[in-house]
Amino acid sequence: MNGLPKKRVAVLISGRGSNMKTLAEAAGGARSSYEIVGVIADVADAAGLNHAAALDIEARALPRKDYSDKATHEAAIDAQLKSWNVEIVALAGYMRLLSPEFVGKWTGRMINIHPSLLPLFKGLDTHKRALDAGMRVHGCTVHFVTAEMDDGPIVAQAAVPVLPDDNEESLTRRVLAAEHQLYPLALDLVATGRAQLVGNRVAYDNLGTSGGRGIVLSPAVGGDEPDLESLARFTP
Ligand code: GRF
Repeated sequence: MNGLPKKRVAVLISGRGSNMKTLAEAAGGARSSYEIVGVIADVADAAGLNHAAALDIEARALPRKDYSDKATHEAAIDAQLKSWNVEIVALAGYMRLLSPEFVGKWTGRMINIHPSLLPLFKGLDTHKRALDAGMRVHGCTVHFVTAEMDDGPIVAQAAVPVLPDDNEESLTRRVLAAEHQLYPLALDLVATGRAQLVGNRVAYDNLGTSGGRGIVLSPAVGGDEPDLESLARFTP
């Protein structure tokens, strides 16, 4: 991490928080370019809050229902982020669309993970829809957040095969394993400034051997658990 101070990252969740947990675990390494300084859930009993507390990360529930409208809810989130001096926001299973005003404050500094190869399958039930469409390749995407749902310039993607006997559960599991590898890599690209939002594109710089080219692809169809990390080290 080149001796630079670690970027202060907050994670916004609504539920289980497994991606938040992998980000936090990756941040524990001495060479990490970022630290997770806090976790906010918009649901009072989000399971991820317990994972965060167990990892000694400050965790706050700011339930939407405790606020009269979206603007006051987002103002509370914003105040919490400011109090933690957050530099980057990572959405990880945060199930509420943020307002253009909120998003505008974090342009180029807020990323999201979505369980499909965007721009395919925005929204919910991505794995079922990929199966129904007969996709042979599926995956996940980390992108900068814009005011549109599951939109925004792509930082990195991981692809996994769709196998002939897959069902929603097996495909969900395979994509989630890819998400857990992709998100720490993508956040590292953003935290180190090697992936930056320039206009409505992502510009890459000095990727070296650790970030590939921002696109992480699975090996040939057939493997159940793609070795994304070794592929991420591959620089053509
Ligand atoms: C993940 O599949 C993520 O891509 C999507 O919501 C799910 C959240 O899972 N946006 P978790 O809370 O990180 O376990």
